[in-house]
Amino acid sequence: MPRILIAGCGYVGQATADLFHRAGWKVEAWTKSKAGTGKPYPIHAIDITDAQQVHACEGNFDVVIHCASTRGGHVDLYRRVYLNGARNLLETFVTSTILFTSSTSVYAQINGERVTEESAAEPRHQTGQILRETEELFLAHSGIVARLAGIYGPGRSALLSKFLAGNAVVDPENDRFINQVHRDDIAAALFLLLDRQREAKQIYNVVDDQPIRQSECYRWLAKKLNRPLPPVGKSAARGKRGESSKCVSNAKLRCLGWTPRYPTFAEAMEKSILPSFGQL
Ligand SMILES: NC(=O)c1ccc[n+]([C@@H]2O[C@H](COP(=O)([O-])OP(=O)(O)OC[C@H]3O[C@@H](n4cnc5c(N)ncnc54)[C@H](OP(=O)(O)O)[C@@H]3O)[C@@H](O)[C@H]2O)c1
Repeated sequence: MPRILIAGCGYVGQATADLFHRAGWKVEAWTKSKAGTGKPYPIHAIDITDAQQVHACEGNFDVVIHCASTRGGHVDLYRRVYLNGARNLLETFVTSTILFTSSTSVYAQINGERVTEESAAEPRHQTGQILRETEELFLAHSGIVARLAGIYGPGRSALLSKFLAGNAVVDPENDRFINQVHRDDIAAALFLLLDRQREAKQIYNVVDDQPIRQSECYRWLAKKLNRPLPPVGKSAARGKRGESSKCVSNAKLRCLGWTPRYPTFAEAMEKSILPSFGQL
C-alpha cells in the first residue's frame, strides 16, 4: 500500500487526503494547530516550520505534499511556512517524491496574455518571490510544482462572497482576467501527478479551461441570482494577484489526461458552489 503525507491538511489538503485514502493509499496528514478527528486517517499537529519537530518524524512516505498555507500574511510568515517548511520536509523525507502546491500568482503578466509553464514567472512582490524560491528548491530536489489558480469550491469563493456581501465593484480600469480552479479538480490533478506520473522536476498549472474577466463573473452572478450588477467603481483591493491579468493555460496537465469536472466558472457555480452557499 503506497504511503502519502499531506503537510497542511486544510481546504485542498483534506480533499486530496480523502481522495488518496479512497484510492487505497495509506494517508497521514499534518496541520499546525489541531490534530483532526473524524477522518479515517491520522491527522497530527506538526508545525513544519519547526525543524526539530519535523526531523523527529519518521515514516517511509512514497509521496509528500507541502500544502500548508499562510492564509495571506506577511513576508516573514511566507519565508517560514513555504521556504523553511520546504527545507525541513526535504531534509527529512529524502527518498520521497515531493510536491509543492504553489500559485499562479507567480506570473506577473498584465496584458491578458496566454501564460504557460514556459512563460516568465517573475513576481513583483516579495511574497511571490518567496514562492518562486520555494519552487526552485523543490525542483532542485527533483520535486514537482503544482501552480494552483484561485481556489474555489464548496463554501468558498472570494468573488461570490464579495458579491453576496455587497462589496463587489465593477472596475473598468482594472477588469482583470481571473483564473480559478475547483478544489476537487485540484485533488484530482494532484492524484494524477502522484499516483502514476511522478515526473520529476516538472511544473504544472492547475487551472480550469476558461479564464474569465472579473466583470463577466459578476454579470453572470447578477443574472443567475436575479440581483443588480455591482456598481462601477475603483476596486480597492490589490491582493497578490491584484495587478496581474493573464490567461493561464492548463494544456500541459490536460495532455496527461486531467479533465476538470468543473471546466468553467458557470459550471462550478451551478453544480457546486452556489448550492453550497444556499443560493440554488
Ligand atoms: N487561496 C488560494 O486561492 C490559493 C491559490 C493558489 C495556491 N494556494 C496554495 O494552495 C495550498 C492550499 O491552500 P488551502 O486553501 O487549502 O489552505 P488552508 O485551507 O488555509 O489550509 C492550510 C493548512 O495548512 C496548515 N498549516 C499552516 N501552517 C502550517 C505549519 N506551519 N505547519 C503545518 N501545517 C500548517 C493549516 O493548519 P491549521 O488549520 O492548524 O492552521 C491548514 O491545515 C497552499 O499552499 C496555498 O498557498 C492557494
